[in-house]
Amino acid sequence: MRNSGCSSKPEQPGPPLWLLAELTYRCPLQCPYCSNPLDFAQHGDELSTAQWIEVFRQARELGAAQLGFSGGEPLVRRDLEELVHAARELGYYTNLITSGIGLSEARIDALSEAGLDHIQVSFQAADEEVNNLLAGSTKAFQHKLAMARAVKAAGYPMVLNFVTHRHNIDRIDRIIELCLALEADFVELATCQFYGWAELNRAGLLPTREQLQRAERITNEYRARLAAEKHPCKLIFVTPDYYEERPKACMNGWGNLFLDITPDGTALPCHSARQLPVQFPNVREHSLGHIWSESFGFNRFRGYDWMPEPCRSCDEKERDFGGCRCQAFMLTGDASNADPVCAKSPHHHKILAAREQAEQAPLELDQLTYRNERTSKIICRA
Ligand code: FES
Repeated sequence: MRNSGCSSKPEQPGPPLWLLAELTYRCPLQCPYCSNPLDFAQHGDELSTAQWIEVFRQARELGAAQLGFSGGEPLVRRDLEELVHAARELGYYTNLITSGIGLSEARIDALSEAGLDHIQVSFQAADEEVNNLLAGSTKAFQHKLAMARAVKAAGYPMVLNFVTHRHNIDRIDRIIELCLALEADFVELATCQFYGWAELNRAGLLPTREQLQRAERITNEYRARLAAEKHPCKLIFVTPDYYEERPKACMNGWGNLFLDITPDGTALPCHSARQLPVQFPNVREHSLGHIWSESFGFNRFRGYDWMPEPCRSCDEKERDFGGCRCQAFMLTGDASNADPVCAKSPHHHKILAAREQAEQAPLELDQLTYRNERTSKIICRA
C-alpha cells in the first residue's frame, strides 16, 4: 500500500521501486558541486561484489524495478560488468550514471553484453577549458566527447547531463549546441542543488536570478525550435530550489519509493541523509526487508504526524511532504522543520539571503573548494 492519507506511517510501505547503488566514493574527477558527503574519505570499506548482488536480490524481492549505478565514479569498480549482469538476471532495468572517465569502447561493449539498459554521461561545461578546470583533468573534455559518441554508436540513447551554475550557465546556448552536435536524445540541464560539496561552495555556485531566467528563456526557445522541427532531442531544465517559493517533494516522500545504498552498505532514504542526526541501518547487519519497513531511520519522516507547523496544517503537505529533510537540517539545524525553500517557512529568509548573496561579486573558479580525498580528510579533522 502506497503511503497516503494523514497517518503517521503507513501500515505497509509500498516497495522501494528505485534502488540507487552508490558503488564507490572514489572518483578521478574533483567537481566542486559533487553531492557526495564531505567526509566521504572516512567512510568504511566498500561492499564486495557478492554483498552488492545480495543487496540487489533482496531489493528485487521487495519490488525494486529500477537500479541505478552511481558513485563517485562507478566505472572505478572493476566488477561493474559483473554487477550489471547480476542485476539484469534479476530483472532490473539498469542505468549507469557516469562522468565517462574510465569508459572505453571495449567497456561499453562489455557493459552492453552484460545487459546494461541505459547510460547517462555528465559534462561539466561546453567549453573545454572550463570543463577541465572544474573536473580537474586536462583530458576530461575530449574523452567525454569521444565516449558520448561511442555510447550512441553502441545503440544506446544518448543521455547527457550538465550541472549548471553561475560559472557555466551563461553559455547555455553553447551547451545545447554541443548536445545537438552530439545527437543527444535527452539532455538534463540541472541547475546545481546544494548538498555535500555543492553546499560548501554555494556562495560561489548559485546563479543570480537574472542568469537563471535568461538560461530558462534560451532553453525554451530551443525547445520550441526543436519541437517545430520534430527534432528528437528533449531538453529538461531543472531550476534550483533556491529560486522556488514552494519546496520539491524530495524523493517523492521519505521512504516512499527511493532506496539508496552507500559504498559501505549504509541504507538511506536519500543520498544526503547520512548527515542527519538519525541512525541509519547497514545492509551488513540487517535485511533490506527490515531496513525498509521496520528501521527507525526509514520511518523517521514517513507519513505526516512528525510534522510541526506550518507543515502540519498545510493543505499542500500531501503534495510536497514538507520538502527536503536534508535541506531543512542544513539550513535550520532541525530536519523536522519545513524546508526553508517554502515561503511559509519561518526560515525562508535564509533562502532570500542566499539569493541576495548570489548578486554579489562571484567567487572565481579557483576559489571554490574542490572535492578530493585530501580535502575531505582535512575537513573531517577540522
Ligand atoms: Fe535528503 Fe531531500 S536530499 S530528503
